[in-house]
Amino acid sequence: MNTILVTGANGQLGTELRRHAWPDGWGVHAVDIEDLDLSDTAAIQALVASRPWAAVVNGAAYTAVDKAEDDLVTAWAVNALAPAAFAKACRAADIPLVQVSTDYVFDGTNAGGWATDDAVRPLNVYGASKLGGELAVRTGCPRHAIVRTSWVVSPHGHNFIRTMLRLGAERERLTVVDDQYGAPTSAADLAAALATIAMRMADDATLAGTWHFTNAGETTWAGFARAIFASAQRHGGPSPEVAGITTADYPVPATRPAHSRLSHDTLVRDFCIQPRDWRVALDDIIDELLGAPA
Ligand SMILES: NC(=O)c1ccc[n+]([C@@H]2O[C@H](COP(=O)([O-])OP(=O)(O)OC[C@H]3O[C@@H](n4cnc5c(N)ncnc54)[C@H](OP(=O)(O)O)[C@@H]3O)[C@@H](O)[C@H]2O)c1
Repeated sequence: MNTILVTGANGQLGTELRRHAWPDGWGVHAVDIEDLDLSDTAAIQALVASRPWAAVVNGAAYTAVDKAEDDLVTAWAVNALAPAAFAKACRAADIPLVQVSTDYVFDGTNAGGWATDDAVRPLNVYGASKLGGELAVRTGCPRHAIVRTSWVVSPHGHNFIRTMLRLGAERERLTVVDDQYGAPTSAADLAAALATIAMRMADDATLAGTWHFTNAGETTWAGFARAIFASAQRHGGPSPEVAGITTADYPVPATRPAHSRLSHDTLVRDFCIQPRDWRVALDDIIDELLGAPA
């Protein structure tokens, strides 16, 4: 049995990695904070050394973007120092490390879609801490994959779809930011891509690099909200009015990039993975949340 060690077991991605239909001979051992606290670097090294893992997928992260602005010690411990410890341990074990990263390493000035080798310049503490994790993994572990994603959603956990459905059931009109552009990403689709990457890397010791996985297409948060309610309408779900506002109208502690779309070019070239459109993935999530359409 080839067993992949997964962190963040109860997060959106970790849940989908556990639910993923792994091929025969492959499976995951998924841990969350009660099994392994990522701020304990000695425990990370001990767990990686404890079994002959086929690979490690580090899906856990400090993901509270606004809270991180005031909590940068914890954000850096989880998002940068823990990946550094995984890198050291995976290098010692000669196994691949798949590190999940974010569109927030970029500054949002490129409306054309970010290439994997574009210059990074995070605008907030969360993005900077994730970039710290990228650098630690890239320099610390030769057999690494850094996979950046954006706007992760699923039927479980904290995410934009669940927040919109809750607010939409309470209010007739919502105001949502309409000048930040990005690609929503199904955690299930991300998990499937990471599974492909991890298995390939387990079999090919020469494979390493940085790739982007998101669902295809682009929208704004307001466009995403309208699509959520349109999809939910198939089930008789809420249909509030969604009024677009600007980022300046919605002040939050952490600055967000205006343009987050990530290019899939190297993912298609290296893994033949063609992400599906975000609207199709959205319908699947809504169907799971609200039941099969009438
Ligand atoms: N969510 C997004 O929109 C988004 C966008 C771009 C990139 N990403 C990246 O995608 C990956 C997956 O994100 P996600 O949405 O699945 O995140 P998530 O739902 O917030 O899950 C994160 C997981 O990390 C765990 N965790 C946090 N601190 C920990 C610690 N000190 N020790 C051990 N585990 C800890 C959490 O445990 P608890 O539940 O117990 O706190 C949770 O299970 C992350 O690397 C994230 O940075 C996410």
